[in-house]
Amino acid sequence: MELATETSIPVLPVETPEFAANPEPYLEEARRQHPWLARFSQGYVVHGYQALCDLFADDDNLLPGFGPVIDFYGVRGTMWARFMEEIVIAVSGPTHARLRSSVVNAFTPRRANQEREMMQRVISELLDEWAPKGEFDFAYFASLFPVSVMCGLLGVSAEPIPRMRDALENQLKSLTMDPAAKPLFMAGWDVLWDFADTTVNEREASGEFDEDSLLDAMIAAKHAGDLDETELRFMLLTVAVAGYDTSKNQLSVTMNLLLDRPDIYRRCAEDLQYCRKVVEESLRHTAIASPVRTAGRDFTYDGFTFRKGDMLVMAPPLGNREPLVFPDPGEFDPERENRDRHVAFGRGQHICLGQFLARNQLQEGLHLIAQRLKNPRRNGDVEWRPFLGAWGPRTLPIAFDPT
Ligand code: HEM
Repeated sequence: MELATETSIPVLPVETPEFAANPEPYLEEARRQHPWLARFSQGYVVHGYQALCDLFADDDNLLPGFGPVIDFYGVRGTMWARFMEEIVIAVSGPTHARLRSSVVNAFTPRRANQEREMMQRVISELLDEWAPKGEFDFAYFASLFPVSVMCGLLGVSAEPIPRMRDALENQLKSLTMDPAAKPLFMAGWDVLWDFADTTVNEREASGEFDEDSLLDAMIAAKHAGDLDETELRFMLLTVAVAGYDTSKNQLSVTMNLLLDRPDIYRRCAEDLQYCRKVVEESLRHTAIASPVRTAGRDFTYDGFTFRKGDMLVMAPPLGNREPLVFPDPGEFDPERENRDRHVAFGRGQHICLGQFLARNQLQEGLHLIAQRLKNPRRNGDVEWRPFLGAWGPRTLPIAFDPT
């Protein structure tokens, strides 16, 4: 087999606003030059569907983690850096297995289904406030949604929602490798740590225990010796951070797609089962998360040799647009038979722990939103967040018939 060399790999301008606004033309061109790999300023972008499936599962050669991000900002030694290095999403092998298994039972499909009623209540309360307005920035509205559901999941009051929203908003900015993000995510971190510490201390002091509560499941894992005090707080914050930008951006992406498909939107108001298909096709059509891996050693995959230390952006949003797997990939078609084969939640050991919760909150959210925000239309320009990190609309101004 002829080996590809670095110079034969095309460049994808993933850091640019033009790419974030519409990656499709760049991707098509890159695909013509190499079927699954591209370069960018910091390393490589894996965009082929099969390569993503294989490399997500390759724990021998590829390491998860945010080492390059920590070094980029020069913040080694801070508590934030410790968080980014030690959390479940950043570690592998036995440490990852221990952390993940300590909470995995709280994230099963059955548990996620038990939360549907809470989700409906929280989303209805939000809509009571927002549906009469007639117009707003849907991206802002969507940002309140996962924090509110998270507070519901943890069984804590809604009081911290505004400051948590702002702090979470700044956390994933760190992944954009923009020096201006540093003071924002470092300040946000103090708010998050304070929230986790207070939440755990108050629950423990209350002496209450509910076996179905996510927070109590984490506290029980500490009592069982599976998590220490810091790991418990880190786990709580991981769930909050990992579930925030992702859920809100996916909801905004879905709304953006449906603004062009009023027929589908109207059906979502009537049929929760149909919302399941729509959410899955939205995850397929415009996935929003592109996790990062670092090569732990030199290794060759499908004719290309990566060198130890190379950074790989694993890009589900691009792999889900592979025409050989998803014919006519730019078409948003909830009836697409293989829509569930998307890689929006990753694959392998680190596959999204919150995927069932995420699906349920998106389905319930969409169903209620379509009932309450009638006849929505764009009411200004859609701006996009950077593709790296958590992609999605930064602003999505809409107008609708108020209810
Ligand atoms: C549409 C919404 C979501 C998307 C697209 C998404 C996507 C992902 C992806 C791609 C990964 C794999 C990361 C990697 O391989 O490095 C991941 C991991 C993870 N996600 Fe999600 N996520 C979503 C919602 C959520 C929610 C709601 C939660 C929590 C309630 C959550 C918690 C996690 C956790 C804890 C991990 C780390 C799992 C591990 O490392 O073992 N996610 N997510």
